[in-house]
Amino acid sequence: MGYSGDPLPQPTPIDPLVPYSIRLESVTLVRGEQRVFDGLTLSLDEARIGLVGDNGAGKSSLFRLISGLDQPQQGRVVVHGCDTRGTQADRRQLSQHVGLMFQNPDDQIIFPTVAEELAFSLTARGETRQAARERAREFLAERGLAAWAGRAIGELSQGQRQQVCLLALQIGRPATLLLDEPFASLDLLSQARLATQLEEATSQQIVVSTHLLEHVYDFERVLWLEQGQVRADGPGHEVCEAYAENVRQRAAAERGAGRA
Ligand SMILES: Nc1ncnc2c1ncn2[C@@H]1O[C@H](COP(=O)(O)OP(=O)(O)OP(=O)(O)O)[C@@H](O)[C@H]1O
Ligand SMILES: [Mg+2]
Repeated sequence: MGYSGDPLPQPTPIDPLVPYSIRLESVTLVRGEQRVFDGLTLSLDEARIGLVGDNGAGKSSLFRLISGLDQPQQGRVVVHGCDTRGTQADRRQLSQHVGLMFQNPDDQIIFPTVAEELAFSLTARGETRQAARERAREFLAERGLAAWAGRAIGELSQGQRQQVCLLALQIGRPATLLLDEPFASLDLLSQARLATQLEEATSQQIVVSTHLLEHVYDFERVLWLEQGQVRADGPGHEVCEAYAENVRQRAAAERGAGRA
């Protein structure tokens, strides 16, 4: 039986003149003993943005701030008009504006089966359980994944669990997708499929962190984070080449030091 409930709730319309608007204003973030960001100011308005940088540079921390999982100790984060430190209503709206795909799928997944996990994205937005489960099954079937509906998530591979995480985000249709190293566990064909899926999601803003530079090389904007600061910010090919060259130099210096 097809989904026959009311139309899904849509995110509050965003000013068409400023379709995407993520602002960090003088943000300081401390995690544990670590001062990850110290007065970071940043605007993210483009439809496709890549995030690159070494392990520990602050990519996942930036995503946690934007999605409201962490609050800055100083400064503020405003996502499409919602302050992430706002009221409960603001926070509910924030969850419609932005969806985060975690670096580790096991940090994101809550439910035992694929259909339940997808349905949760809809019940969290006010859909009834029955309608949400029907829509989840339909959504999977539309993508040729009908057989996945009842599958136990614990029995899926790491890459398949990552795909479930992305599907669970996509079914909720947030204005902005934050994808934290989404290519990391995917085989080559799945990487190509994901890249195509991202290209086709033209009505969404997508921010992708990755160590696989080819996936953001053609993006209109890439940020290179280094120790919580923006080391470079510009067209994908320029920033990726600058970062790759920097890595080559550091690797050569280490090899040289090893021989000395
Ligand atoms: N749960 C935590 N508690 C304390 N400090 C943390 C925690 N998670 C990350 N950090 C610190 O925050 C800094 C930024 O980490 P973050 O995870 O944002 O880096 P990243 O760029 O995503 O790295 P990676 O490429 O390894 O995923 C690091 O110095 C790290 O030690
Ligand atoms: Mg990370």
